[in-house]
Amino acid sequence: MTRIGILIGSTRPGRRGDQVARWVHERATRRGDAEFEVIDLLDHPLPHLDEPLPALTGRYQHGHTQAWADTISGFDGFVMVTPEYNASIPGVLKNAIDYLHAEWTHKAVGMVSYGARGGTHAARQLRALCELLQMAAVTPQLALSLHTDFEAHSVLKPGAHHIGALDTLLDEVVARSVAARTTPPAPRETDEAAIRRRIDGITDAIRAKDLEGLRRLYATDVVSFDIDPPLQHLGVDAKLKNWANVFTIFQEVTYEVRDLMPTVGEDLAFAHGFGRLSGTLPDGTAGGGMWVRATFCFRKIDGEWLIAHDQVSVPLDIRDGKGVVDLEP
Ligand SMILES: Cc1cc2nc3c(=O)[nH]c(=O)nc-3n(C[C@H](O)[C@H](O)[C@H](O)COP(=O)(O)O)c2cc1C
Repeated sequence: MTRIGILIGSTRPGRRGDQVARWVHERATRRGDAEFEVIDLLDHPLPHLDEPLPALTGRYQHGHTQAWADTISGFDGFVMVTPEYNASIPGVLKNAIDYLHAEWTHKAVGMVSYGARGGTHAARQLRALCELLQMAAVTPQLALSLHTDFEAHSVLKPGAHHIGALDTLLDEVVARSVAARTTPPAPRETDEAAIRRRIDGITDAIRAKDLEGLRRLYATDVVSFDIDPPLQHLGVDAKLKNWANVFTIFQEVTYEVRDLMPTVGEDLAFAHGFGRLSGTLPDGTAGGGMWVRATFCFRKIDGEWLIAHDQVSVPLDIRDGKGVVDLEP
């Protein structure tokens, strides 16, 4: 059955958040179209984010992160209950959200906020955050006022009109969570496709003479065995110097790749193929045009495939030691 987590966004002693969450839970469990469970951050104590890699990588080092990821993975959708602290959501809630990524993505979420004026600033920020995580934030939302929905500012007595609004919010969260469960997720781009896209990125950036675009494709410590001297070009700045040089040689430049064959591992990949740099020289004549052998080695860094090493060569005629530059793939 579809499982919806009702997340309490505050942990301070004497918080009002648990009253709000339990009211939502009590109303929700009357429905019968999903299972609802309160998620209390007090039961999931998390230090300030201490994972070395971004959550986007899904590679968690700490037991507390994995336990939190297991908890959140078990839900198909959420109602987030947030107070407003200084016109924003509590740090503890932001921290708990920041710990994970894929566990939130594509899941439905509804917001119930509370504060002196309903906590609407916090709700707006939470919505933006959830949308950034590609969650499906439902439009109906609830804003409970400390002045009118809490007796003596402390005991939750929500106005009757909130009941209908809460039901509408739950209708949406349940419907979207059920739909998400039954719709297979869109296929993720395979690593091989990502590698091919990286190489396309090289050809596009070269044609546009876009040095900054090229910079984004390389690891900062790339070791390049390029075709021209010296023996090695160390670091992305040295590599870009090579490309900048090419851009001064050619007025218009293109880079063509043929027979690219990527081989992909978990966080290392390589691809070999043939490349041809050609174009128009400043005097209008055609230049370049020889095919070279090119090997690109990638490392997955923070979820992105970056070129950590490349090797460009032509075969050598061993009799005279000269490069053979007129071969075609
Ligand atoms: C640090 C802090 C900052 C607050 N800032 C705001 C605010 O900017 N706007 C508002 O409407 N209420 C603000 N409040 C009031 C809270 O929304 C209210 O006390 C609420 O009950 C806090 O949630 P909690 O009881 O679950 O911790 C603030 C409360 C605290 C503790």
